[in-house]
Amino acid sequence: EKGGYDWFMLKEIAEQPQAVADTLLGRLGENGELVLDEVRLSDQELRDIDKVFVVACGTAYHAGLIAKYAIEHWTRIPVEVELASEFRYRDPVLDRSTLVVVISQSGETMDTLMALRHARDQKARVLAICNANGSTIPRESDAVLYTHAGPEVAVASTKGFLTQVVACYLVGLFLAQVRGVKYADEVASIVDDLRELPAAVSQVLAGMEPVRELARSLATEDTLLFLGRHVGYPVALEGALKLKELAYIHAEGFAAGELKHGSIALIGPGTPVVVVVPSPRSRGSVHGKVVSNIQEVRARGARTIVVAEEGDDDVLPYADHLIRVPRTPTLLAPVVTTVPLQVLACEIADTRGLDVDQPRNLAKSVTVE
Ligand code: M6R
Repeated sequence: EKGGYDWFMLKEIAEQPQAVADTLLGRLGENGELVLDEVRLSDQELRDIDKVFVVACGTAYHAGLIAKYAIEHWTRIPVEVELASEFRYRDPVLDRSTLVVVISQSGETMDTLMALRHARDQKARVLAICNANGSTIPRESDAVLYTHAGPEVAVASTKGFLTQVVACYLVGLFLAQVRGVKYADEVASIVDDLRELPAAVSQVLAGMEPVRELARSLATEDTLLFLGRHVGYPVALEGALKLKELAYIHAEGFAAGELKHGSIALIGPGTPVVVVVPSPRSRGSVHGKVVSNIQEVRARGARTIVVAEEGDDDVLPYADHLIRVPRTPTLLAPVVTTVPLQVLACEIADTRGLDVDQPRNLAKSVTVE
């Protein structure tokens, strides 16, 4: 059933282009229009929303962090992202005009379910982004947008994550469409860009042999750091989580801009540092700042593993290892930049002789609080 792959995780990584395509299928209409009939919230309800919370756990929470950048940019509605296990314990401000987006691959995560119940008790509208059809979370929500990733067996979420990110884009673009926002042109062209994502993911997957080799050389490390900025920051967190859960190696993700506020002290001779570089077309000078960060950590002895867009030659002088991803619009980049980090974690765990699909101490769905 692993379809010739050694691990379900490898099979599920390979299925990502199809999973992304299936999640988009039938939802991108003509002329950049989105068709999300399943979202059973009326246009008026969607227009009345004045605040969005995204609530989830683990990898799904990282998808939520990416959602914040996209939804705020496209809709101008303030978005807060919160861990489900923290959400209801701090008495968040919720009312009828709050949209709470809960994200869960399994639809059975107890922390997320309890957060959703709390939100509904407070009269907020709840939209679930979920993969498992008919599971508890979508059943208890006001509306649901299913990711069509197909069954995910490996404990580590891969295609679940990528399709959650895509579903979050759809939610953001749909809200923008219903509310009529000033970025209308940009929104239409982003819809075209979404159609390119499955091919872009395939392209990344086709170039993974050097990542496998690199993984073998990292298998005896005892710590790895991941840096990113803007949407690359949640990608760094996700890369670190994958490595922790699969390879049992200490890993931390940082916002690259925070390095100088403390974490740079961790870097010593040979410390492997993975840097997710934003597109050179990003707003402000974020790209240049991250390139400087690579330079800084390398000057302190780090072994730099750089994930950068094709054609970005600014990183060349500072990359000990370079992983190329196709040119992708800034907000959509996580769909391509996450993939090499999944492969890296999977291959490091495999080299260490670990059970990639069933890491110790973990369950596929966490049904206790
Ligand atoms: O099924 P869910 O999406 O609600 O699961 C949430 C987390 O437990 C899950 O993403 C977990 O972090 C994964 N094992 C990460 O790979």
